[in-house]
Order: sequence, then structure tokens, then C-alpha cells
Amino acid sequence: MKASVFVPATIGNVGPGFDCFGLCVGSLGDIITIELTKSPSEIVASEGFDAAAVPKDPQRNCTVIAALSMLKMLGDRRNVRVSYKKQIPVSGGLGSSAAASVGGALGALLAAGKPIDRRLVALAALDGEESVAGRHLDNIAPCITGGLSIVRDTHSTDFSALASTPDWWITVVTPAYRLDTKIARSVLPLEVKRELMVAQMAHASSLVLAFANNDPALASRALNDLYAEPHRSPLLPKFVEAKAAAIKAGALGASISGAGPTIFAISETEKIAINVRENICKIYGNTSLAHTSKIPREGARQVAI
Ligand code: HSE
Repeated sequence: MKASVFVPATIGNVGPGFDCFGLCVGSLGDIITIELTKSPSEIVASEGFDAAAVPKDPQRNCTVIAALSMLKMLGDRRNVRVSYKKQIPVSGGLGSSAAASVGGALGALLAAGKPIDRRLVALAALDGEESVAGRHLDNIAPCITGGLSIVRDTHSTDFSALASTPDWWITVVTPAYRLDTKIARSVLPLEVKRELMVAQMAHASSLVLAFANNDPALASRALNDLYAEPHRSPLLPKFVEAKAAAIKAGALGASISGAGPTIFAISETEKIAINVRENICKIYGNTSLAHTSKIPREGARQVAI
């Protein structure tokens, strides 16, 4: 009747994989508790970072929407009571709405006493994500799988994750301002030249090989977004300097996390990842989040609270 789940933050795009790649940020996430009820759905508690930004109206809350979508698929007519312990910034480019949606979908499945079914969780979570940020899976997939995931097709919820990931570290730093995903998407061209398409595909494919073969030198060459980053960086004050500071501190590469404004970097060791974090923070000065995490093999999971 009640289940609590940890739902991790995620980095959409991961550089060259626009709308397809996602990387899980293991130790940063929200804990969402779903209780099934015959009363109307409600948000009963919301605490932690950005808790005030969680919509309290159940009809506008993506956790409730995803949970009810899951219950409908299960043929269960109950509603949900939801509570949050939040760490993920809202509208920061770290998959906050995807985590909230996966939390609703997985929490409802477990609260109903059913075994975990990743496709069902993704389908219900998509309904939640669609209500806030559009129907895309690039944050939902890694939130479910952990590690690096690739979405082949959103309509058929066809996504998979690398079976193993290198022991590399992620740094994420969110400057103290928000950027609306709709605005960040509006600056992107709808058509690109063939040379750009080929170069972006080559970088994206090489990045996957770098992760699969544990090849940091290739990761360093491949972590380069030729499509979105050049158009979005003018919307992100000090991003260019922050990226240069990350590379100077030894990161293999850095780019915009999802639609921004968070910057992410990949490093070979924890020590480098911490130096990268400190260097980026010096550039931004005012930040709302600065975090390092080993790339996790596990995504959303049930927790006892
Ligand atoms: N991939 C989307 C974008 C954001 O870059 O606009 C969702 O992660």
C-alpha cells in the first residue's frame, strides 16, 4: 500500500547525444513516497532543496500523473498520497521532472505489490514527463537504468543501457539561475547540414565506445556537442569560462547538462572531479548546487525510510 523510492538526477544529451543519451548521477536524487488511497490524490509533504517549487495541485504534479497512469495500466482505481525529500534542483537541467515522474510510476507499482517492470515504469513516467517538459525519455531512461543509457525510439519506449560503465566520476554544478527548457530548445535549428550530422553522429558513437572500452582518451575527443552547445552557450552566462576551467582542472570533457543551466564534466578520478567542481564554482561564484558522484551502475530503487 506504500513504497518509497530513490530516484536519481540525470544528465540529458551527455554532449553529442542530443535527446538520445542520458547519464545517471548516482548519489544525487529525491526520495519519493507513494501511498495508495481511496481518497482524492494529494501532496502531503515536500521538504529539501527546491521543495517549494513542487506543484501542490495534483492535476499539475507529474508524480501524481505518472502514478495514476501506472495504476490505470494495472487496473487499480485508487489514488495516491505523495511525499518528497528533494535534492534535485527544479529546472536545472538535471532531470528533476523525470525523477519525479519515475518516482510516481515506480512507487505506485511497488505500492500495488507488483514486480518491477522497466517498460511499464517508463510508459507511466512518460505521461508525467509529458505534462511538464514534453514527451522525451533521455532523462527517464538513465533514471531507471543507472549508468549511460541510449534511447533508440521514444514512441516504442525502446531504450537500453551499457552493461558496465567505467569507474569515472561526474561533476555537476548548477549556477544560481533557472533556464526554461522551452527557451533552450527554441534557439536550436530544426535542420542541419550533412557535415554536421555526420560529425555529431561520429562523436556520439565514439563516446559510447569510449564508455564501453574504458577509453578516457577517446572520451576526451568524443565529448563534444557540435549541435546544441554552440546555440545554447550564449544563453548561459560564464558557461564558456566554466567549461575551460573544468578542462584546465583535468576533466576529460564538459558540456551542458540537458537543456541547462547545469554544467557537467567527466573525470577519471574523484580527486580530479573535486578539483573540477572547485574550479567551476570559482567561475560561477553563485551556485545552487555543486556535486561529484561516481558513475552509478544502479538507477531508481526502493528504499526504507
Ligand atoms: N534533451 C533535451 C534538450 C532536454 O536538450 O532540450 C531534456 O533532457
